[in-house]
Amino acid sequence: MKPSIYITRKLPDVCIAELKETFNVKMWESEEIAVPQDVLFSEVEKADALLTVVSDPVTDELLSVGRNLKVVANMAVGYDNIDVEAATRRGIYVCNTPDVLTETTADLTFALLLATARRVVEADQFTKEGKWQSWSPFLLAGHDVHHKTIGICGMGKIGEAVARRAKGFGMEILYHNRTRKPEAEKEIGAKYCSFDSLIGQSDFVVSMAPLTNETRHMFNAEVFQKMKSTAIFINTSRGAVADEGALYEALEQKEIAGAGLDVFEVEPITADHPLLKLQNVTALPHIGSSSIDTRMGMIHICVENIKRILSGERPKTLVNT
Ligand code: DGY
Repeated sequence: MKPSIYITRKLPDVCIAELKETFNVKMWESEEIAVPQDVLFSEVEKADALLTVVSDPVTDELLSVGRNLKVVANMAVGYDNIDVEAATRRGIYVCNTPDVLTETTADLTFALLLATARRVVEADQFTKEGKWQSWSPFLLAGHDVHHKTIGICGMGKIGEAVARRAKGFGMEILYHNRTRKPEAEKEIGAKYCSFDSLIGQSDFVVSMAPLTNETRHMFNAEVFQKMKSTAIFINTSRGAVADEGALYEALEQKEIAGAGLDVFEVEPITADHPLLKLQNVTALPHIGSSSIDTRMGMIHICVENIKRILSGERPKTLVNT
């Protein structure tokens, strides 16, 4: 019998055509709506491979029903939605999609930084709503980006790609990371500093840190209080690295000047969430890696990893060892 693959979100036929030649492929037929948990559980029971997206919780309980499951290929570089320890214990490979999305996610991070600083979204709404009466000296005046200080928390590949963009804007680049990055220091001129020193000095505090037990709520009330009152917080990594209640208070009380958020503690964030009521917040629906080319590339890597593992080969991008 052919091995079975379950895909948790509708993907273009062209991307999975080659899988269909060799395997039984079943797919949840909606792009927008997540597969219900009961459907996922019953599909995992029969599956040899699972292709997941970042919003699918792959828990120990789910893995326990996958008696034939050999691989979970997650369409993301981050894998905090997966219990990797449980997968490893059960002998299940976990794969992700690094590298292909680095530059695209850095582009979006910088776009969000610029949009938040220069109030681009507000200005667009203002113009379209017919509110523009005349040129005026401080109409929608924002914050400069060029020659300001950016502090990048989490200097992985995406962090470095953001730093390269910042260099082009003549910015002073600070970073904080578990390990020093001598090449980024030499090539981009990024300066390593402690977390406290970074948050105190930066005009733009950018979170690029993965979500782990150590990074959960690393941006809390105390941290927002230590930021400049003109600082802008940008988060394109994972929502839960920031305590959203504390972030709301800091923005409301004008302890910081603004926030650009592509990720939230609970996704999708609901329209009545207090953060979305604030004018100094620019909010996006987790689209960091969302260019057509990059999303196609991410699917391709997932497909390749599944094919390799089901054929007894080593995957391209393995999370657990
Ligand atoms: C990732 O790759 O981790 C993104 O957040 C999903 O687009």
